[in-house]
Amino acid sequence: MQKITLFIDDREVKAPAGRPILWLALENGIYIPNLCAVPGAEDPPAACRLCWVEVEGYPRPVTACTEPARDGLVVRTRSPRVDRLVRAAFELLLSAHRLECSRCPKNRACTLQEIARARRLPLRLVRYRKLARDLPVDNSSPAVRYDPGKCVLCGRCVRACRREGTGILGFARRGYERRVTTFGEVPLARAGCSGCGACALACPVGALTLKTKSV
Ligand code: FES
Repeated sequence: MQKITLFIDDREVKAPAGRPILWLALENGIYIPNLCAVPGAEDPPAACRLCWVEVEGYPRPVTACTEPARDGLVVRTRSPRVDRLVRAAFELLLSAHRLECSRCPKNRACTLQEIARARRLPLRLVRYRKLARDLPVDNSSPAVRYDPGKCVLCGRCVRACRREGTGILGFARRGYERRVTTFGEVPLARAGCSGCGACALACPVGALTLKTKSV
């Protein structure tokens, strides 16, 4: 495959043309916050809006998970515009995420915590208000516990369930009401959850967690 050369934060990167900038940066030790992207997956959903970068000559920042590498591109992962966009997207995610890190099974393994650390962002709301969502926890599956109050709508569980499970997960409703759920919004077990645990392994936060580590 034809190799091209681009520059990310002044580092020369050689890569196959067309590969998303996000993966090239990460593989070369350059951090870009990301939550919804999955390596190798076609048509990235670009749902989390965290992976902003500037590309020289482009009028506005672009999402690195959807932007293909081209020869000669000059990419910057930090700029005042990028930092503002990342901060806003991060806080929007927090506004819909129930923060209880010390009691959360994903504490210290949560991507939100990782992003907060890497970009020195507070793990609390500063400008936005908390979305009042009182969504019940679904404990019906033998393998996973689903807490929709922590879901960040990245869609990774939906893809994992389609790929490795029974394909029972999907998105329902719109706007603030949008959520990951089953057809008819019935509990996981009633919807036919096989208990494979793929959704919990794909979840970057504490929304879907394994009941036991052995699944
Ligand atoms: S990783 Fe690019 S928008 Fe989520």
